[in-house]
Amino acid sequence: MKKITILFSLKITALTALIMMAVACTSSDTSLKDAFSDHFLIGTAINGPQVHGVDPEARPFIIRHFNSITAENAMKWEKIHPDPDRFHFALADSIVDFGLQNDMFIVGHCLLWHSQTPDWVFQDSLGNPLTRDALLERMRDHILTVAGHYKGKVKGWDVVNEAVDEDGSLRKSKWLEIIGEDYIQKAFEFAYEADPDAELYYNDYNNELPQKQAGVVALVKDLQQKGVKIDGVGIQGHWHLDSPDLKVLDESISAYAALGMKVMITEMEVNVLPTPPEVYGADISQQAQYLETLNPYKGGLPDSVQKQLTRRYADLFGVLLKHRDAVTRVTFWGIHDGYSWKNNWPIYGRTNYPLLFDRGYQPKPAYFELIREAKK
Ligand code: G3I
Repeated sequence: MKKITILFSLKITALTALIMMAVACTSSDTSLKDAFSDHFLIGTAINGPQVHGVDPEARPFIIRHFNSITAENAMKWEKIHPDPDRFHFALADSIVDFGLQNDMFIVGHCLLWHSQTPDWVFQDSLGNPLTRDALLERMRDHILTVAGHYKGKVKGWDVVNEAVDEDGSLRKSKWLEIIGEDYIQKAFEFAYEADPDAELYYNDYNNELPQKQAGVVALVKDLQQKGVKIDGVGIQGHWHLDSPDLKVLDESISAYAALGMKVMITEMEVNVLPTPPEVYGADISQQAQYLETLNPYKGGLPDSVQKQLTRRYADLFGVLLKHRDAVTRVTFWGIHDGYSWKNNWPIYGRTNYPLLFDRGYQPKPAYFELIREAKK
């Protein structure tokens, strides 16, 4: 009798183990893009070395999990148009070719930004500030050349990036100073001229927060009233364990969707490190000083924080899935923790854990939780 009981319990244990293995396999076998295929695109920011095989694991990993890509840096003005008469397309071309070969929705980032734009853009050959007309001509040439080069290949452009300040007013950039408020309208018109079939987006960080959101809503309405084509609003999503408030995110998506905008989370990650309150955004001109106390997880992420990260991702995706009719894409800003810009901003040289995959390409608990959320 004892023998039968032992055999029986062994069988049960083996069966349970098999079921658990099957469940684990199903979750880790499901790729992110497949799990969310009924809801929205899943994208990632990538760089040249990943595509060129410098990190041999990167290419197959990107192909497996993502159906949309954004060049993290390669299409920014300083990279793609470093000198007045020189466009440098090689790096961005290899990223676009990779996307095309793998049937991915390719996002162009970005045509106009106050940052990463060389000083010469705003000056004449003698170093004097350009006139409005001359800067408009230079802007048109840049947009037509870059968006024209990728016509039919890049399916959506971040036409204007981060043009609104935290209080909802227009950012005091060189573009605004020299051209005036209509520089945004002009940028969208030039992008349309370059590729009428591409989707055109306004992209920003913190634009889920009420004041900035009001500024972006006003901007979109203004463009619409003028008959300018704009298809969507990108909420970058440089988020934290404790902010933004889910209700705020929920309301901002509704506000943009009510204008007929497609909504995208374009640069998502969740910071787990202590953050000085003045740098809760993504303004890369801000830096804070390194302190050991601000880099607490050098040796690994404690379970308690891993759980918080998992919960936070589930909560944020709960809101995004609720708005699946309006949300067309969620792009993560980096393929795994080791590639995240959040290791070096706002404080250089920290160890952050903001993405779904760890430094060894292993899925984190948040990944499995999102796969479950997607199937609900
Ligand atoms: O490529 C050079 C390398 O040759 C050099 O040795 C090294 C030394 O500093 O710098 C490398 O360039 C860096 C580049 O990233 C590539 O790693 C730049 O210094 C650095 O400023 C740049 O940072 C990027 C930042 O935008 C500024 O362009 C981040 O990778 C990128 O994640 C970040 O992305 C922005 C979005 O475009 C817009 N929204 C905010 C987001 C975060 O700042």
